Amino acid sequence: MSDTFVIKGLGGQKTLRGTVAITGAKNAALKVLAATVLFRDTVTLKNIPEINDVQQITELLRNMGAEISHPNTSEYKVSIPQNFSTELSPSIVKRLRASVVITGPTLARFGKVSFSSPGGCLIGARPIDLFIEGFKKMGAKVTFKNDSYSIVAPQGLRGAEFFLKNQSVTVTETFVFAGVLAQGITTIKNAAMEPEIVDLVDFLNKCGAKIFGAGTPTITITGGKLLSAKKHIYQTMPDRIDAGSFLILGALTAKKLRIIHCNPAHLESPIEALRSAGVSIETKKNEIIVRAPTKIKPLNIKTHEYPGFPTDLQAPMTVFLTQAEGESRVFETIFESRLNYTEALTGIGARFVVMDPHRVLVQGKTELCGKKIISPDLRAGLAFVIAAIVAKGESVIHNVNTTIDRGYEDIERRLKDIGVDIERRSEDEEIVCN
Ligand code: EPU
Repeated sequence: MSDTFVIKGLGGQKTLRGTVAITGAKNAALKVLAATVLFRDTVTLKNIPEINDVQQITELLRNMGAEISHPNTSEYKVSIPQNFSTELSPSIVKRLRASVVITGPTLARFGKVSFSSPGGCLIGARPIDLFIEGFKKMGAKVTFKNDSYSIVAPQGLRGAEFFLKNQSVTVTETFVFAGVLAQGITTIKNAAMEPEIVDLVDFLNKCGAKIFGAGTPTITITGGKLLSAKKHIYQTMPDRIDAGSFLILGALTAKKLRIIHCNPAHLESPIEALRSAGVSIETKKNEIIVRAPTKIKPLNIKTHEYPGFPTDLQAPMTVFLTQAEGESRVFETIFESRLNYTEALTGIGARFVVMDPHRVLVQGKTELCGKKIISPDLRAGLAFVIAAIVAKGESVIHNVNTTIDRGYEDIERRLKDIGVDIERRSEDEEIVCN
């Protein structure tokens, strides 16, 4: 079974209005679930988004023996038993790249871990060389056979110093977690600085970890002891990509849209870009108000690690630029296949000149017309939803549950509440996207 969204577009009208609440951050929630392996007691997690990726990672942890209860919406309690398995289920690892983060705490605590090459959204090569090199530096032995890694460190991991050739979020998190239980000091240089890392580290430090420098390019961890969550509950930070996506939707289509339970401080780069395109944006501590302008000015966007323009908002921003009066440039610097979706947007009326796999020229303003369209991945999928809302006529977006539902909670209800005509339908088959 596969779900589709049927959306009746606004045909360029700017009539959306109301309030939308932002959920907990996917990319913090998945990692805090992995970090529960560092705890000797039960960890309570709140504001966890109800999305498919969270279901996948909890299923993976359960398969390994974790005791997980879900007493209320968005709340989980996790305990890791002594006989926790150190094998990650290949079928889930193939679907969810974030599951690789579990390897760090598992190896550090139990002295071994095995897993198959991870999969995930088709947005680029997504290597794991930095994970493997890092584990070796911490004293582990790695064997690779039949597409499966087996890593052992019978004496436990020891602290090490590494310089990451690429600023990877999941690599940084994996070695922060491994460092918490390694003997001695671990130093990560050229570490990723994303707010999700700061959010996780704040919680781990409250529970007994000694991690310094999160949010800067050098993180130092003094390790050695299991953590305790007896006195602290983790509350997931707001999802900046969920908030940024509604901000872009509002900038295209809203009379007045209030985005609540968000943190505008995490969205400085997109807010700055939208303002320079002529969008009216007011920010308060946990709230953003956006109104669509009558005319959008073109601009150039270059994705960058935080605090630069997030690659996860690149596709929605490109849809925005199809409505700008003139030529804009989009430069995707992080993932080499993350502009492939532009071909499908051409089919609904957008005009692009593809300069190379990392750069496109967006020729605005173009009228978008509703059509059948296949969602290729999570973020491009949501960009197609935004395009369908802007477009004239009816659009049908396929493969919603294997892409959009991975990361956006209750998206059609939240869109309906602000005036979008959207309906979910079930189909017999998933459509394969090449
Ligand atoms: N890289 C290496 N070697 C490695 C690992 C990564 O060279 O061993 C390079 C990659 O080639 C790429 C960069 O490092 O150039 C980052 O890639 P990676 O696949 O490690 O990204 P990530 O840190 O796993 C996280 C988010 C992504 C988000 C990026 C950038 C999670 C689970 N994923 O990925 O989110 O796009 O940071 O901000 O936190 C999404 O949510 O849709 C998503 C893809």
